[in-house]
Amino acid sequence: MDDAMLVEDVSKRFRIYHERNQSLKSAVMRRGRAQFEEFWALRDVDLAIPHGKTFGLVGHNGSGKSTLLKCLARILVPDSGRITSQGRISALLELGAGFHAELSGRDNVYLNGSILGLSRRDIDARFDDIVSFAGLEQFIDSPVKNYSSGMYVRLGFSVAINVEPDILLVDEVLAVGDEEFQRRSLEKFQQFRDDGRTVVVVSHALGTMQTMCDEVAWLDHGRILGVGDPEDIIGRYAGAVGTSEPEAPDGGSCEARVTSVVVSGEHGAATTVSGEATRFRVEWSADEDVRDVEHTLTIRTLDGVTLAVASSGGTGARTLKRGDGAVELVVPRLPLVAGTYVVDATLNRPADGHVVHRADHVAEFVVHPAADSDGSVGLVALGGTWVSTGR
Ligand SMILES: Nc1ncnc2c1ncn2[C@@H]1O[C@H](COP(=O)(O)OP(=O)(O)OP(=O)(O)O)[C@@H](O)[C@H]1O
Ligand SMILES: [Mg+2]
Repeated sequence: MDDAMLVEDVSKRFRIYHERNQSLKSAVMRRGRAQFEEFWALRDVDLAIPHGKTFGLVGHNGSGKSTLLKCLARILVPDSGRITSQGRISALLELGAGFHAELSGRDNVYLNGSILGLSRRDIDARFDDIVSFAGLEQFIDSPVKNYSSGMYVRLGFSVAINVEPDILLVDEVLAVGDEEFQRRSLEKFQQFRDDGRTVVVVSHALGTMQTMCDEVAWLDHGRILGVGDPEDIIGRYAGAVGTSEPEAPDGGSCEARVTSVVVSGEHGAATTVSGEATRFRVEWSADEDVRDVEHTLTIRTLDGVTLAVASSGGTGARTLKRGDGAVELVVPRLPLVAGTYVVDATLNRPADGHVVHRADHVAEFVVHPAADSDGSVGLVALGGTWVSTGR
């Protein structure tokens, strides 16, 4: 087989149960039959992943990328079709997946390594590299429940790459970690490629995907819409994302414009963690001095529910000098649950409501669950603590 992995006609179906919280009594009454709906997370997927190449998967949230990676990692079994592979596979699929909170970093490295098929002696030989790559020398004997989410990711990634797999599967961790860690990770990917190993990577960081991948596949609603040259596929995908926007195009008189909004957490750009400090950097450009304006950022869900509107007006409208500049909104503890969110930005004159520039959907960002997440669902992370009050 010339390919490291071959995916033939793979489909994966999930069931969504509607009556999860039904009582035992009613379940018994229905003789254990649950009500559910089925849908296909992957449909007739065919892919050939060549040996020694870095292969990328792009697509909308929910398009099936993680499901496909889990099938490749054999964590999920397809409902039909076939996946064949050659060589040892190592996977880093979710933030902190496979770690035991109560165990130390050291014990988790041994546990993870043995799951990936290494003997104790193999791990002994690699242990120092794993710890130093993760930069966790001082913390390796603390329980991982005390780690920040960035520390989790660094350790998980470090184990996954240092076990020297033939095939490495990585889901959306490129954007996590500080710049230094990201740089070292990219170097490691490059080294992997030079060693002739195969990497399958999922990311929304399209720029990085374009530079690091040899080939890219585009998933949409569980189907492959295209496979091929990264520039071509990512260009088509980005084009489709752009044109599928229901919002009106940018508006306003435009003597000054918001050129970009960069959202960053403690561990990198375009991604943050529930409850952690998050910055929204608004970059603007003005053709002339524009007086008495304020910046407004709106954060909403992908389906358009407005969650917050933050305006700089509270600190007084100000004049933008001709040229370029930036202003930052700093949120000390981001109160959003895990998910993907959209940012709209406007530049307006509060005195008369004149809109200088409106940029809808100027940025998207991903919020990862906190390491100590209690699995909260909804939109808002309350950040509360349960306290027993006796009895
Ligand atoms: N265990 C599960 N049970 C039911 N539905 C699931 C399960 N896992 C995933 N899904 C659903 O399958 C679809 C594909 O999910 P998947 O996580 O593969 O998407 P994705 O492309 O990785 O998205 P994202 O970019 O947000 O990570 C989604 O609609 C998701 O809600
Ligand atoms: Mg995913």
